[in-house]
This record gives sequence, structure tokens and C-alpha cells, in this order.
Amino acid sequence: MQTVILKDDSKGIASAAEMLSAGGVVAIPTETVYGLAASAYDDNAIAKVFKAKGRPQDNPLIVHICDMDMLGEVAADLPDEAFALAEAFWPGPLTMVVKKSDKIAQSVSRGLDTVAVRMPDHPVAGQIIRRSGLPLAAPSANISGSPSPTSAAHVIADLDGRIDGVVVSGDSRVGVESTVITLATKPPRLLRPGLITAEELKAYLPDLVIDSAVLAQPEEGQKVASPGMKYKHYSPKTEVILVEADAAAFADFVNGQRECAAICFDEDAEKITLPTLCYGSGEDEESQAHSLFSCLRQADGLGVKRVYVHAPKKSGVGLAVYNRLIRAAAFKVIKL
Ligand code: TXA
Ligand code: MG
Repeated sequence: MQTVILKDDSKGIASAAEMLSAGGVVAIPTETVYGLAASAYDDNAIAKVFKAKGRPQDNPLIVHICDMDMLGEVAADLPDEAFALAEAFWPGPLTMVVKKSDKIAQSVSRGLDTVAVRMPDHPVAGQIIRRSGLPLAAPSANISGSPSPTSAAHVIADLDGRIDGVVVSGDSRVGVESTVITLATKPPRLLRPGLITAEELKAYLPDLVIDSAVLAQPEEGQKVASPGMKYKHYSPKTEVILVEADAAAFADFVNGQRECAAICFDEDAEKITLPTLCYGSGEDEESQAHSLFSCLRQADGLGVKRVYVHAPKKSGVGLAVYNRLIRAAAFKVIKL
């Protein structure tokens, strides 16, 4: 299959919308990461998404909408909190799991009676949804298991020849995927941390619980609320090990290693004698989120067998960064 490269202008947006209406799969920019979109009403199109990504069959997709009318079409029995959260955070990187409507293709939710929904804060994504008139199911536009794509070049590196098109826009602003919460359980749970933090959400959901899978590996056989959380994920081919330490201890430790590289904070690079990639400032978790996946992809170009990553703080947006890194490291964490 030839993957058509589209611009993010009105012609490119119209072509993407036509391809999606015709049952195609097209990678589109969002503010978090690029998504691989298909009609949420079309089981055939959804099957193509799973095939192109090599996605595990039990992992449901997020549905992207452009307005509140569309929310009413894809969801059922919405609780009051859903409207308050939409008012506060949409368009934006918050995904809510709620009861699904019958219109959503069975294959979107993989047999669950819920649907994950978000309204992306990206003008191109919004226009593609509006123009096609379809809610779009879209997982991140990467091969399953590899780091999520924060540029069109990442999408093309993974999926060229496997999808109908890609809309080329700038680098993703946020850099990690949306915060996922479920309102389908009582109390509500945070399933995946993102730019919108647990602290911010608690103003609307005082009884919000952080799912145990956010910070640790689910036990063998444990039932997980969000199937995507149980996999090794976001990993380059190079082995990743996460190191929890202060700046001096991290530098001492990695400087004693051979044939390895380090991923560290900008201000610590000068202390490190190994090949080094920087993923933002240690004091600025949003900058870390922005650069994380791109750094993990670049690790494969360093020609080393292992990369040690200096762990972020686990609070605020740092929780999202830490959550992605423990999976990239297949839960291998060294505490110094
Ligand atoms: O920022 C994002 O959310 C990006 C962009 C493209 O919007 N999308 C994204 O999709 O990250 P994906 O498929 O890579 O991650 C979806 C996550 C998975 O962890 C999945 O298990 C969870 O959402 N999920 C989807 N539907 C669910 C449901 N009904 N119940 C519980 N978890 C669900
Ligand atoms: Mg993903």
C-alpha cells in the first residue's frame, strides 16, 4: 500500500476526511501525540488499525470527537461529572471512560460496555473530525510497543506502506498521551496519567483513586482496568533502565558504565562522560514530557546496547513521564 503524505492545509484536511469516510486509516496530528484514525462506526476500518499497528487484540481504542453533540452520539448515561470535566478540560488531553452507545463499533471497545472519549485540542484534528462528520477511533500512530510518535517523521518511520495516509503537521505540543480516567466505576479512577494531573482532577473528582498500574507492574494474571497498562510499551530497541537517584549519584553511577548511554536532564549533561541525550529540565516536567518519546527513539541511533534514564519526580506531570518510563524499561528500575 502506498501511504499518501498530506499537508495540514484545507486540501489535505479534506482529503484525510474523504479517506476516513471511505473506511481508510489516516495518521493525524493531535496536541498529545499523532493518532492513527479510523471511523469509530466501521468495524472494517478498526480492524485495519489493529493490523497496521500490530496492536494486542484486547486493547480498546480512544474515540475522538469535535463537539458535545458527538459526545451524546458515542456515549450513554453520562454522569454530571462528565459535563463538568468537559467544560473544564475540553478541548484538551483528558480522556474519559464512560458507558458506550450502541452506535460505536464493537471492535472499538473490544467487548467492554464502555468507551474512552476525548476532544483533542488541535485545530487540524478538530477540522478532520468535523469535515468527516465521524467520531474517530485513534490509538497512537506507532507500531505497538515502540515509543509514541510526536512527529510525522516518527509515524512514517513506523507505518509507511501500512496505512492510507498521514497528515504532516508540526511536532506534538504535549508529547505524552492524554490522561485517562474512568467514570464508569465508583469511585472514579485515574488509569493513565498525562498533562492534566491527578491534583487538577481532584477539584472535580474529590474521590479520584490512582490505579495501582500507574506506578507499578500489574501482577501476573491481575485484572487491569485499562488493558493498555499491562504491556511493556514505548520501548526503543536498545535496553532501557530507569535510575532513581539525585543528579550527583546518577552521574557517578553512569560514568562507571561501559558501552552505554545516558538520558538525563539538560542541566546535568555536563557531569556525564557517556554519550548523552537530554530530555528537558529536571525542574520542568512539561519539558520532559515534550521530549521523552523523541529521546527514546534517538537512543537507537547511538549504537549502544543499554541506556540509563534519570528518573523524573513522580508528582504533577512527572507522574506521566515516570509512568511511560517504567514501561519503556519493562519495569527495570535501579534505586540509588
Ligand atoms: O493522547 C492520546 O490519548 C492519544 C492521541 C492519539 O489521542 N491516543 C492514545 O491511544 O494514546 P492509545 O490507544 O495508544 O491508548 C489508549 C489507552 C489504552 O491504555 C487503553 O487501554 C485505554 O486507553 N482505553 C481505551 N478504551 C478504554 C476503555 N473502554 N476502558 C478502559 N481503558 C480504555
Ligand atoms: Mg499507544
